[in-house]
Amino acid sequence: MNKEGNVIILGIESSCDETSAAICMDGKILSNVIASQDVHIKYGGVVPELASRAHMQHIVPVVEEAIKKASIQLEQIDGIAFTQSPGLIGSLLVGTSFAKSLAMSLGIPLIAVHHMQAHVLSNLIETPLPTFPFLCLTVSGGHTQIILCEEPLKMKILGETLDDAAGEAFDKSAKLLGLPYPGGPLIDQYAAAGDPTRFHFPEPQIDGLNFSFSGVKTSILYFLQKQLKEHPNFIQDNLHDLCASIQHSIIQILLHKLKKASMETNIKEICIAGGVSANKGLRRGLQEYADKYHWKIHVPSFEYCTDNAAMIAITGYYKFLKGEINHLNTSASARATWD
Ligand code: KG4
Ligand code: ZN
Repeated sequence: MNKEGNVIILGIESSCDETSAAICMDGKILSNVIASQDVHIKYGGVVPELASRAHMQHIVPVVEEAIKKASIQLEQIDGIAFTQSPGLIGSLLVGTSFAKSLAMSLGIPLIAVHHMQAHVLSNLIETPLPTFPFLCLTVSGGHTQIILCEEPLKMKILGETLDDAAGEAFDKSAKLLGLPYPGGPLIDQYAAAGDPTRFHFPEPQIDGLNFSFSGVKTSILYFLQKQLKEHPNFIQDNLHDLCASIQHSIIQILLHKLKKASMETNIKEICIAGGVSANKGLRRGLQEYADKYHWKIHVPSFEYCTDNAAMIAITGYYKFLKGEINHLNTSASARATWD
């Protein structure tokens, strides 16, 4: 705690292609600055080497802007939280090295944060806060999980994808339609004017609370190949309906498992997180389930759905309160399970 009696945490996120810094004071976000990297668009995916270089260019100005926007002084910061894992190792190392150096020079605690735990806790940024225990459907470009969150730092994975993540299912389907990377937001956009029931892609039958998306992608591929043989302009002529139908299939897989998890745990406090939670169809579908099954739902604002440092700062805040701080010899890790 600083001399004004507040706890101020700087959060740093650099796990993939977003360089972000945020300031959290007593659990409230004062600033959240995000620098996206356009350099990857022409390659159709994130190029790790280019991502690391862009993080190196962005990190100092992004942190400076976050401090300025929060109207605080560097010396007021009580702890530095950073994304330690999982992610691209070169990208993670930029944020990790920066966080360690700054923590060392200011003589303040360093707090290592798990990116997926932080996505779940993005639901603690805005009010009304969810009550514990809650379920969180975390859907990003690399992960698809149903999490049982009992306390801010006590979480359990109830189910996860056995192959592709939901974001990958969106992006790979978009690629089949000839759309640029990342295709998820574009499918969302085109789907708005399409008919979700026009084309049907079968739902995979996976036991328990786990997911699978690779079959959906394959059935879309075969369907398109067949149609294109007879109608070379099939995609252009049906783009909106195709996007709406693909989006509908992915969303139904997610919501059916979420409903199963809610019934099995008897928990009706439901959150969503991760880049795909920005999807308008998913948000609408979640609201329909909430009305039908009497769920209380929590949906973070768009800026807290995709990768951001606000979620790292808030997770760091809860860790700081519990005294969960790390030694300066801590390093980044591309893959890591929960603590
Ligand atoms: O959480 P995130 O920003 O980064 C990871 O940690 O992966 O998620 C990125 C993923 C990408 O696959 C992107 O296509 C998807 O989220 N995404 C969307 C939407 N916005 C982002 N997918 C569907 N609809 C959207 N509106
Ligand atoms: Zn993420």
